[in-house]
Amino acid sequence: MTTSSAPGKVYLFGEHAVVYGEPAVPCAIERRARVTAEPREDGRVRVDAADLSLDGFTVTWGGDIDDRPDIDVPASLVEAAMEYIDAAVAQARDAADAPDAGFDITVESDIPLGAGLGSSAAVVVAGIDAATRALGTELDPEEVARRAYEAEHEVQDGQASRADTFCSAMGGAVRVEGDDTRTIDAPALPFVVGYDGGAGDTGKLVAGVRALREQHAFAADTVETIGDLTREGERLLADADPESDPDADLLDSLGELMDFNHGLLEALGVSARSLDAMVWAAREADAAGAKLTGAGGGGCIVALDPTPDTERALGFAAECEQAFRAELATEGVRVEEA
Ligand code: PMV
Repeated sequence: MTTSSAPGKVYLFGEHAVVYGEPAVPCAIERRARVTAEPREDGRVRVDAADLSLDGFTVTWGGDIDDRPDIDVPASLVEAAMEYIDAAVAQARDAADAPDAGFDITVESDIPLGAGLGSSAAVVVAGIDAATRALGTELDPEEVARRAYEAEHEVQDGQASRADTFCSAMGGAVRVEGDDTRTIDAPALPFVVGYDGGAGDTGKLVAGVRALREQHAFAADTVETIGDLTREGERLLADADPESDPDADLLDSLGELMDFNHGLLEALGVSARSLDAMVWAAREADAAGAKLTGAGGGGCIVALDPTPDTERALGFAAECEQAFRAELATEGVRVEEA
């Protein structure tokens, strides 16, 4: 039996624009998905994913997605979870050269689902790591990231960028531009997350931006401008001392770029009333800056504030269901129990 964990992430800059070849800077946060894999003799896959929904569910299938169980959670949620886990298992079988391997898989996660914090990437990354290790094969984190991207790419019909999976596998701050992925040095940024309790439809939101971009030159320019501000943010991080706490000037400069980034995402139609309200609650609490994170439409915002004020203000905001501080996770995928 092997348990591996992998972190979720926030986007400091660059979601959506990354789909069109602009750079993005996601940062891993200390909210993890833990996946336990225990090989089974009969070649079947049994999944126990109590934390993936409010009700919890357990499914068993023989590697065939049509072999659907009758359980009391939304079909789309079960389908999504099964597809991600199925794709992770397929990658592990391939990596360990064990095409008939079966598993008991247990998933626990403290990352809200579909809310822009990279929950599915963390489950896939931890799942591939745990299942390959359970078969006696160890992959380095780059290889886990590559395989997790393949898995997500397949499930999301080619819509996924490498950002979530690379960030979750490697940890820390990363930079993604097309197929070019690298880790970057960053100080421990004081992230505060506000969660509206909802979720956005990534595929639909990505398609919406694509259509706007095709329709209007100024929408294409907006996407490029997000790339420009991301590059400016990268320069700020490159000049900072990764070992010291970030000073107020750095936070203000990064925050200004985050505010700008949120405005451009809003212009591209991917924000939501609840996200805007949480962004404003953070700004009024004197956060250095705030923006939505991930695909948008609902889910989470991220703000920078070393003081308790933003978390407290979000806690009082009607649109915010949960507010929490999120440390930068310097470690990506890791073994919890072998
Ligand atoms: O909401 P998330 O965490 O799935 O992030 C989506 C980020 C996009 O840039 C909109 C799409 C992608 O795959 O990069």
